[in-house]
Amino acid sequence: MPNYILTIESSCDETAAAVIGDDGVVYADALATQEKLHALYGGVVPELASRAHCQRINPILDLTLKKAQERIPGFTFNQLSAIAVANAPGLAGSLLVGLTAAKTLAVVFDKPLIAVDHLQAHLYAAQLYANSQAREAGLVPISVFPCVGLIVSGGHSTLYECKSPIDFVTLGSTIDDAAGEAFDKVAAMLGLPYPGGPSIQKAAVDGNPKAYNFTRSLLNDPSRLDFSFSGLKTAVRYELVGPGERDFPDLSQQPQRRADLAASFQAAVVDCLAGKAVLALKKTGYKTLCVGGGVAANKVLRERLERESKNKRFKLYIPPLKLCTDNAVMGAVAWEMYRADRFADLSLDIVPGLRRVGRQ
Ligand code: KG4
Ligand code: ZN
Repeated sequence: MPNYILTIESSCDETAAAVIGDDGVVYADALATQEKLHALYGGVVPELASRAHCQRINPILDLTLKKAQERIPGFTFNQLSAIAVANAPGLAGSLLVGLTAAKTLAVVFDKPLIAVDHLQAHLYAAQLYANSQAREAGLVPISVFPCVGLIVSGGHSTLYECKSPIDFVTLGSTIDDAAGEAFDKVAAMLGLPYPGGPSIQKAAVDGNPKAYNFTRSLLNDPSRLDFSFSGLKTAVRYELVGPGERDFPDLSQQPQRRADLAASFQAAVVDCLAGKAVLALKKTGYKTLCVGGGVAANKVLRERLERESKNKRFKLYIPPLKLCTDNAVMGAVAWEMYRADRFADLSLDIVPGLRRVGRQ
């Protein structure tokens, strides 16, 4: 019989939990998104996110238990080997809700606690994807590590040297906005709904990616593996309004202009992400690229990286869309922590900001 871990995720605006076996099987998985709640404001409002997590965490844990019992008759949290929770990085008020729930369960059921790094979890989704691909093909799963990891989400745009699933070295990061944040802000300028990534992707379908030659900051600097999207955001803004002006034109009356702006912006982001990811592979000598985070759902980015992987002969793992955005299944990385004896105790705290490990 397998052993089980409960994973809890609440780092941003998704409340999620899962029961995952050491056989790699997901026995239960529940998720509540707050997308509609924040859509009104065009971005995640931390205080609202925290309150919504408080309302949702217990129902999500109940649902996870119920789903697990459907697969494992008589299952209770007493059978868990550990309780894992994403404690970093993320919004402080959001992380705290998951952490408090995890600690409470750890005390009540007398179970060890495991601290999951949300970004390591995002990249572990690529390993889960590789495992499922191997299983479908009747092959033994292979490790995607060591690899270059690219995390592109609402809060992060970071390249890592991933020596193992739980040992990362930061190679480069955004020096200002994250890619997802730029998608969300530019979508708002174009009068497109939140979340901006899917809206821009949709609007860009009818657009010309070469209509506007937007800046690709830092792309031509081979000495750096960093990103910068703030100048690109400003470039889009200045296409629409002059410096200091606040009244953006109503682009619903100019669909072609909106589509061209969306496509040209998206092309600039994709060029920067793909260009630096390829440079990171060259610099590290690794032959595998794993991509994670919400922006990894972007169709143009996925197609571009697929092409690069064929041309430059590296292996590419980008998980399916459901595993790219926040979820608790990627918390399966906790089993790697478990096997490496990396447990936390009840003094475990949240680390909202990025832990920049061994920056080169
Ligand atoms: O990883 P994630 O779900 O949450 C965190 O930030 O941790 O990422 C959310 C971000 C948002 O900025 C959203 O606009 C972006 O991912 N996103 C996309 C797409 N789908 C979601 N960006 C570009 N294209 C997409 N298809
Ligand atoms: Zn995330």
